[in-house]
Amino acid sequence: MYSTDESRILVSQAKKILENPSLHINKESASPLKEIIQFADWSYYVQDNPILADQEYDALFSILKKIETQFPEIITKDSPTQRIAKGLTKSFQVVHHLVPMLSLENSYNADDLYEWDRKCKELSGEALIQYCIEPKYDGAGISLIYENDILQRGATRGDGIQGDDITPNTMQIRSIPLKALFAKYQIKQIEIRGEIMMTKKSFAEYNQKLISENIPPLANPRNAASGSLRLKDPNEVAKRGLDAFLYHVSYIQSNENENFRPEFSTHYDSLKALSTLGFKTPIENAHVCNHIEDVIRICNEYENKRDSMPYEIDGMVIKVNAYSVQDKIGQTSHHPRWAMAYKFKARQASSQLLAIEYQVGRTGSITPVAKIQPVYIGGVTVSSISLFNEDVIKEKNLMLGDTILVERAGDVIPYIVKSFPELRTGNEQEIIFPKQCPVCSQTLTKPVGEAVWRCTHVNCEAQIIERIIHFASKDAMDIRGLGDALVRRFYEYGFLKNIQNIYNLPFQQIQQLDGLGEKSIYNLQEAIEKSKTQALHRVIFGLGIRYVGETTAKAMTRSVTHIKDFYSKTIEELKSIEDVGEKVAASIFDFFSHPDTKYLIDELEKSGVNLQNEKIENEGTHALFEKTFLFTGTMQMKRSEAEAIVESLDGKILSGVSTKLNYLIVGENAGSKLEKAKKISSIIILNENDFLELVKFAK
Ligand code: IVH
Repeated sequence: MYSTDESRILVSQAKKILENPSLHINKESASPLKEIIQFADWSYYVQDNPILADQEYDALFSILKKIETQFPEIITKDSPTQRIAKGLTKSFQVVHHLVPMLSLENSYNADDLYEWDRKCKELSGEALIQYCIEPKYDGAGISLIYENDILQRGATRGDGIQGDDITPNTMQIRSIPLKALFAKYQIKQIEIRGEIMMTKKSFAEYNQKLISENIPPLANPRNAASGSLRLKDPNEVAKRGLDAFLYHVSYIQSNENENFRPEFSTHYDSLKALSTLGFKTPIENAHVCNHIEDVIRICNEYENKRDSMPYEIDGMVIKVNAYSVQDKIGQTSHHPRWAMAYKFKARQASSQLLAIEYQVGRTGSITPVAKIQPVYIGGVTVSSISLFNEDVIKEKNLMLGDTILVERAGDVIPYIVKSFPELRTGNEQEIIFPKQCPVCSQTLTKPVGEAVWRCTHVNCEAQIIERIIHFASKDAMDIRGLGDALVRRFYEYGFLKNIQNIYNLPFQQIQQLDGLGEKSIYNLQEAIEKSKTQALHRVIFGLGIRYVGETTAKAMTRSVTHIKDFYSKTIEELKSIEDVGEKVAASIFDFFSHPDTKYLIDELEKSGVNLQNEKIENEGTHALFEKTFLFTGTMQMKRSEAEAIVESLDGKILSGVSTKLNYLIVGENAGSKLEKAKKISSIIILNENDFLELVKFAK
């Protein structure tokens, strides 16, 4: 969209403004500032190649805000400041699409595609048809209208004729430009269609957060994207990491005349034009083919690589490339005849619900788990599926013995899509959620407004065992060898009745146990010893405070020099910690007020477990302190090992190349990440050996 020269000019303009911001608080500077910020958004969100540091971006943004506060009359709809939502959406207005948002016909195999190719040729009278093939994004459909280059409206698909006006939410998706120079193509008004997507990574992170708050995770990125679009708080939408791919121009009105045809005469060229105008499109994964055999080959290629795509795709869409040929082929009231969806093999299978088991978590939460007739889906056999809480059982109308539909999308945990009540024989049984804890028989409780039943007996055996398992787990104290099975065994023998017992296990007795060799006992002792020096955030996370996941534990750690500092913190003080709101603060406060917590912490201290925040004391002395790393390409060592080394030295792992990145470590066959990093001068690029040298000195 921006040529290298334009980019250079914009960056140098930005630097100039930043050198002396006070000189630029005037009406004249608003326009270049808007342009610079739009360019920075495009570089970051569409190109994935940032050109400004975060602080620079923030500073430019606040200069523009200052100007607009002083001269409100110059605020325009496309100003980047208008992305900041001003309030909640009360209800979504129903709006008409300019043209119906048709659906696509589905095909499932090569024969279907041969037949469609034959029909296209027959209807068009063409002997040879050129096709454009691109991914079928599995997200939420959207329509955008631009008028005189400005984004006017964003709407959901709805029933295809009318959808919900979600303009404020659309404006939160930074890869959607607020302004695009359609005038360049003599276009006055345009409606474009696309798909709102959540990356697999953002989806996994979002679900992790839900799980840590005891909220059932979402089934797939599609539900996450469509749910996000319907949020009443646009600022909340901004936090969901959404992206937009635009893949179809559905309506155009020209400045010039009625019979206007746009400069682009093929679908592929329309994607190119949209990309040039600053939109994210399928262009990088779009292929133009002259023969249906090539189309079939590409469909197969993408089916094989779907798991390695950053987004969920559920098939490919094949479109007749030339608009003139599309017109000859035409459409039904339901779908265009010139386009076809090729659906990948379903990752769904039917099975039978055999039983429900109730698991007690470390916070006493009771999780129903469906035991199903084992079924093979997408490369794994599924026999157990978490149902999260009682409401899920009710919503899905499940009965024991039911035939059920199970889905497993990509790396996502399997879930029950639905039951088939119509297939019931009469032998099915109602699922009755227990009233008592299945382990300690304590009466279960469910506070008003919560969905999870709980056992409130803190000394419930199941909870104690789960707390010990969590404390020793990889992301907490990382005591290798002290896994689920051994914790249960030691508990049974009475060796391990609470967390502090980990540090005074009776190894003489343990040596007498069957199945535990000398070597594994030695390794376990070593791992326990080593855990005493773990960083404080791991201890805090390991204590299993309700609502405190790894990220919150790290933020909490940054606010203290010793764990006991939490004893004297008020709820207000706790709330000033990043990401800690009312609910989390109350939970932390309760936890540290409890005498059992104080006893446990004293015992851990006596055993020599590190409870100091060494990071703060030594701040800046580790070479890797707060330094950011990313690994790319094939390396000799396992990537997880390399990442663990960085984290053990207080460095951080980033997921992409940006100005926030300090070091890119490259293995064999490094690709686009390396290319991107080369363009950011502040990034240090090292090979694996250099990296090992670096960490040797950092230790
Ligand atoms: S083209 C008139 N292209 O799939 C044709 N649709 O199952 C307009 N979809 O309703 C649609 N990726 O929401 C098109 N590359 C792509 C797509 C795509 C996903 C969605 C779209 C459509 C649905 C049909």
